[in-house]
Amino acid sequence: MSGSRVVAFGGYQPDKVVTNDDLAKIVDTTDEWIRSRVGIESRRIAADDETVADMATAAGGKALAASGLPPSGIDLVIVATCSPEVPLPNVAATVAHRLGIAAPGAYDLNAACAGFCYALGTASDAVRAGSARNVLVVGAEKMSSWMDWTDRSTCIIFADGAGAAVVGPAGDGEPSGIGPVVWGSAGDLAEKITVTGRNGAITQEGQAVFRWATTALHPVALEACARAGVTPADISAFIPHQANLRIIEAIARRLGIPRERLADDIVHAGNTSSASIPLALSRMAEQGRLQPGTPALLLGFGAGLSYAAQVITLP
Ligand code: UT7
Repeated sequence: MSGSRVVAFGGYQPDKVVTNDDLAKIVDTTDEWIRSRVGIESRRIAADDETVADMATAAGGKALAASGLPPSGIDLVIVATCSPEVPLPNVAATVAHRLGIAAPGAYDLNAACAGFCYALGTASDAVRAGSARNVLVVGAEKMSSWMDWTDRSTCIIFADGAGAAVVGPAGDGEPSGIGPVVWGSAGDLAEKITVTGRNGAITQEGQAVFRWATTALHPVALEACARAGVTPADISAFIPHQANLRIIEAIARRLGIPRERLADDIVHAGNTSSASIPLALSRMAEQGRLQPGTPALLLGFGAGLSYAAQVITLP
């Protein structure tokens, strides 16, 4: 099999900034509580008429432009999302059409907050196996449309946005730039994060998820490193799902990865589920915090409960 690599990223956030003080006007909370317990200072919330497909198209278009490929160079589009407005049509075919990508394979994938890493893993496998040349992978979420704005335990956490990556073949003779994905699930904990019913809202048992995330996931990250032939000391950037700053700082500590290498996009983006990893990557790239050619560790986790990790070589 040939190798695969991440060619480029792109991110998109809606215009509307919602601060902790804004939320304190609608639920019984404080800026201090949210900062100290979750690490969020502000988040972006989509306009009422802004859809998951709109945000996915914006992020996908940026990644495509940054890749230098024409739309015709893409033959598979995967959108990771758990918050589409409707189950049909899928988001991916609309995104492809809007970006002028003619007749690609197109499907949505739901592994909740782990979705981007699942999509990246399947995109990499498709390129390596020869069933696609270049793949547009998007994580896009409008979590706000599935939120109960009177529930202070969830409405302060989740947010909206999209991030994307273009995956293509590794150069001739070059090693693969996307390591094997290490993925799994804990269906016995499925009830810990749910949306119940068609008109339901996200609910979660925060403490149970917190305990799971801070104890079960660092071995997954370590295995992803081992399978890519690196150690945590080699990792120049650690980009976990931006669930809660306390959770991801705890995982980084367990891995021995220094704080300055940890993505902390949650501070101004909130928890955007499957969008959080590519959004954080895009932000770190903009800030000059990524070193091209070095290994970065991605770790997605959330409802399911599902998780996935892989090491990529930064473009
Ligand atoms: O992305 C998907 C994966 N999800 C996660 O990774 C989420 C994991 N869990 C968490 O991030 C945290 O558990 C939360 C941020 C959800 C909650 O933080 P916590 O430190 O675990 O708080 P808690 O649920 O133990 O609640 C502590 C107290 C409670 O009050 P009492 O019973 O001690 O009087 C809550 O009612 O804090 C209260 N509380 C709040 N107070 C002010 C809960 N939410 C708020 C709030 N503002 N927004």
